Amino acid sequence: MIQRIQATLIPGDGIGPEIVDATLTVLDALGAPFDWDRQIAGLAGVKAAGDPLPNAALDSIRRTRLALKGPLETPSGGGYRSSNVRLREEFKLYANLRPARTLVPGGRFDNIDLVVVRENLEGLYIGHEHYVQIDDDPHAVAMATGINTRAGCRHILEFAFEHAIATGRKKVTIVHKANIMKALTGIFKETGEQMYEEKYKGHIEMDTVIVDACAMKLVLNPWQFDVLVTTNLFGDILSDLVSGLIGGLGMAPGANIGKDAAIFEAVHGSAPDIAGKDMANPTALLLAAAMMMEHCKLDDMALRLRKAIDQTLNADKVRTGDLGGQAGTTAYTRALVSRIKQG
Ligand code: NAI
Repeated sequence: MIQRIQATLIPGDGIGPEIVDATLTVLDALGAPFDWDRQIAGLAGVKAAGDPLPNAALDSIRRTRLALKGPLETPSGGGYRSSNVRLREEFKLYANLRPARTLVPGGRFDNIDLVVVRENLEGLYIGHEHYVQIDDDPHAVAMATGINTRAGCRHILEFAFEHAIATGRKKVTIVHKANIMKALTGIFKETGEQMYEEKYKGHIEMDTVIVDACAMKLVLNPWQFDVLVTTNLFGDILSDLVSGLIGGLGMAPGANIGKDAAIFEAVHGSAPDIAGKDMANPTALLLAAAMMMEHCKLDDMALRLRKAIDQTLNADKVRTGDLGGQAGTTAYTRALVSRIKQG
């Protein structure tokens, strides 16, 4: 008998509840052994408990050390600090693993199989920002501080190299901007090059690329890359770019991994423009659930899920609107369940 696994479930905002429901329906069909502790956060947390990251949600993850999470809305400009960033900080989820693989052939780019490894706790993302008032303009000057530490760089670079080697990858590309931000991203490049010389040379290839050139190269010839490892903000931007190569954000899963906890989610946000319209593609969250099952050593179940997604998209040609299809979230989910039941 498969052992039950306690896990926290955060439906999130916007399309979150719809894609989380779809994912639970599919996981039930698979017989996934998760016992969910349902918690709220983000805008839903503010509305229900006056807090975008209520203690109950934190306590739950402290207990389960495992979560599946829908997207959480963060206001732009003012308002509360991102609950996503706070969760990553709270549980020291230093590695953000974002694989991107073509699942629907015949798009603008075929046979994409890339992994973006994003540093998740440091850089310009730490949100140490302030304004300086000049005369009567309180926002006359905006300032931000970025912090990258040697230890933080070592953690994420080691994760990237080890993951690449363990999964049979050929090359790790270190993405930086050390020509301009010589200290802030220079430390990342320098640490990566040192670690490669000391530990990984002979086991895997390594090269380095400046982030702006990387963006251009990813669009011109993405097949030249394999595993990309980079600092927080660049990873945020490049992983959305990479999701565009495989059909968009509806296809891009992510895992936030630390030593003591892991939170699985889609790369995309709450998509308020399509929320509540049965239009969201739940594949990104389903693929995140597959990563979660692999994390829990439920490899066979994850494989069944990946196979059902492939068959539904390609043999049955049931696809949501973002992939050029006609199916709503519910119809796509139904098709997946029927594929799973067929075995
Ligand atoms: P977004 O990722 O929510 O949406 C960008 C575009 O992609 C929209 O046109 C949307 O309709 C489309 N899209 C996204 N996911 C889709 C899906 N599953 N199926 C079909 N189409 C999909 O980015 P946006 O609009 O910039 O952000 C909205 C909110 O989400 C913000 O408050 C932001 O802070 C938050 N956010 C949360 C994240 C998280 O919880 N990890 C990650 C990114 C953004």
